[in-house]
Amino acid sequence: MISFSVAVDPRYGIGIKGSLPWHIKEELKLFRRNTLFKHIVMGQTTYDNLPGKLKDRYITVVSIDPEYHPEGVEVTHDLIAFLEEHQDDETEYIICGGASIYRQSYPYAKKAYVSFIKKEYEVDTRLEIFDPQDWDIVKEEEYEEFIYRELIRKEDENS
Ligand SMILES: NC(=O)c1ccc[n+]([C@@H]2O[C@H](COP(=O)([O-])OP(=O)(O)OC[C@H]3O[C@@H](n4cnc5c(N)ncnc54)[C@H](OP(=O)(O)O)[C@@H]3O)[C@@H](O)[C@H]2O)c1
Repeated sequence: MISFSVAVDPRYGIGIKGSLPWHIKEELKLFRRNTLFKHIVMGQTTYDNLPGKLKDRYITVVSIDPEYHPEGVEVTHDLIAFLEEHQDDETEYIICGGASIYRQSYPYAKKAYVSFIKKEYEVDTRLEIFDPQDWDIVKEEEYEEFIYRELIRKEDENS
C-alpha cells in the first residue's frame, strides 16, 4: 500500500527554499510516531536537506542520478515503476515528500497522514494537487498549532 505523510498550511503550502516553512516540535514527534520502523520514501532534495539522519526507518530515496548512492538508504531511479510495483503490497510505503514526489504519488495513495497547520506561512511550494474531497477522515487530533487527520481514500464510485 502507498500512503503519504505531509504537513500543509491553510493554502496547502509545504515548503520554502528547500526546507519546511515552520518548526513545530509536536508535528515532528507525530511524524516520528507514524514512520518509526516503517518504509518511507522521499525525493533526493528532501533527503539531502534533512536536519539530521532519520534512525530506525527503512528509507528509499528517489533520484534520477545513477551516481547518487548515499550510505544506509535504498535508492530508486524510477518512482513510477516503484509505485506500480508496491501499490498492492501489504507493506505500507509512506511517501514523505517533497513536492514533486507527492504530486507523482498522489494518485497511488490510499491513506494519508496530514497535519493541517493553522497559521499561514510564507512558502514557495504548494501541494495544489491535494483535494480534501478525495478522502474520508478516520482519525482527528487537535494540537495548538495544527489539526492532525488520518485520511482514507474514498472508494471510486465508478469501480
Ligand atoms: N510540508 C511537508 O510535510 C514536507 C515534507 C517533505 C518535503 N517538503 C518540502 O518540499 C520541498 C522539496 O520538494 P521538491 O519537489 O523540490 O524536491 P523532492 O521532491 O524532495 O526531490 C526532487 C528530486 O527527486 C528526484 N525525482 C523526482 N521525480 C523522480 C522520478 N520520477 N524518478 C526518479 N527521481 C525523481 C529528482 O532527484 P535528482 O535530481 O537527484 O534526479 C528530483 O530532483 C522542500 O521545501 C521541503 O521542505 C515538505
